[in-house]
Amino acid sequence: MSRVVSLADEAKRILRQNDTGGFVKPSPKQYPHQWNWDAALIAIGLATFDVPRAQAEVRKLLEGQWRDGMVPHILYHDGPSDYFPTPDFWETQRSPNAPTVQTSGLTQPPVLATAVRAIYERDEDKDRARSFVREVYPKLLAWHRWFRTARDPKNTGLVAIIHPWESGMDNSTRWTEALARISPTDVPEYERRDRQHVAADERPVTGDYDRFMALIGRYREAAWDASVLYDTAPFYVQDTFTSAVLHRADEDLMFLAELLGEPTEEIGGWLERTRNAFDTRLWDENAGLYYDFDLRAGRSVRENTCATFLPLYAGLASETQAARLVEHLLNPDEYAPDEHTRYFLPSAAKNSPYFEPRRYWRGPVWLNINWLVIQGLRRYGYAEVAETVTAHTLELIERGGFAEYYDPRGSEPCGARDFSWSAALMLELLS
Ligand code: SER
Repeated sequence: MSRVVSLADEAKRILRQNDTGGFVKPSPKQYPHQWNWDAALIAIGLATFDVPRAQAEVRKLLEGQWRDGMVPHILYHDGPSDYFPTPDFWETQRSPNAPTVQTSGLTQPPVLATAVRAIYERDEDKDRARSFVREVYPKLLAWHRWFRTARDPKNTGLVAIIHPWESGMDNSTRWTEALARISPTDVPEYERRDRQHVAADERPVTGDYDRFMALIGRYREAAWDASVLYDTAPFYVQDTFTSAVLHRADEDLMFLAELLGEPTEEIGGWLERTRNAFDTRLWDENAGLYYDFDLRAGRSVRENTCATFLPLYAGLASETQAARLVEHLLNPDEYAPDEHTRYFLPSAAKNSPYFEPRRYWRGPVWLNINWLVIQGLRRYGYAEVAETVTAHTLELIERGGFAEYYDPRGSEPCGARDFSWSAALMLELLS
């Protein structure tokens, strides 16, 4: 059997194994519920061999949509498990917007419209494909509108996040300073369970975890009311990553709107405002990098991480900006392999004082990031660099299996094993 066929078979086996029948768990033990951007990325992979199953994954995620449009970050379809936070910890019933199924009170990077377009394009039965788009389009539009009202009420074109978990990159070096300003004195009583299945040195440190919980404590007191949180949330950062993912998802939403003959002006307005805001607020001409903007501190977050490459994926960079980003990518002091690391793409620049090659989002390679960056590089014509990152991605899987993340020094798997989006995105890469 060829190398590619056996990897693809193993990827499908993992997706079937993690399938509860209702949704695909991100991993068998560590993450036993449905996560938002996991579900979207998993659906992209499922669509390569089972379109109806991919559609079902999207429908299941949308069961958790809040009445105000938010699609939440965790859905506890089957009640509590040994995962913490437990469903009750969020106290989301305090909000009049919470849905019937228990969920977290936060959101996650909005890959869903992109996934729906991918499912549509994969489906050879175009009647079925179109009727699925017709069914979910109003829900996607409601979520994208929610981002504009709840997370960008001043209409800047950039959405903010109120918790590091909303970025999906929980303990990224980008949040170090903003978290340091939060006093962990009001931490609700809690017990971490994330280190039962994964080694402690691969997970966020306790100081970060305390602050994650302190923020949840504050927000549940505010009944998860976005208008209150805009003024009071201690963590409020315009995140390059989320804004870029949303911009690309807006492009895909526009495609779906045109397909259905729906109005497109509103989406067109979002696309234009975000494009301008990336240049005026997030691009740093001296550094040649995109930096997040911390609205509470009133300044840029001068941390160099993989998030800076997302404007390539979203088509937000000019040719000149793209060339400068690629210089950073190919610099062995920052991201490219050298005598210490062997693989693209460390999640934080290696010369950051906070870089840690095994600790969750502070340095390990994540395959969803590689996949997003490969698309960005192709979009801007850097085909050879994209091929190199693709080859590294496949080699990591061959050597380390379908892990949650990898130590860039030598492909050692870290975090959860049999990780669904690693399997799903490899299927997409190979197809
Ligand atoms: N990534 C989180 C966790 O580690 C939650 O979204 O539990």
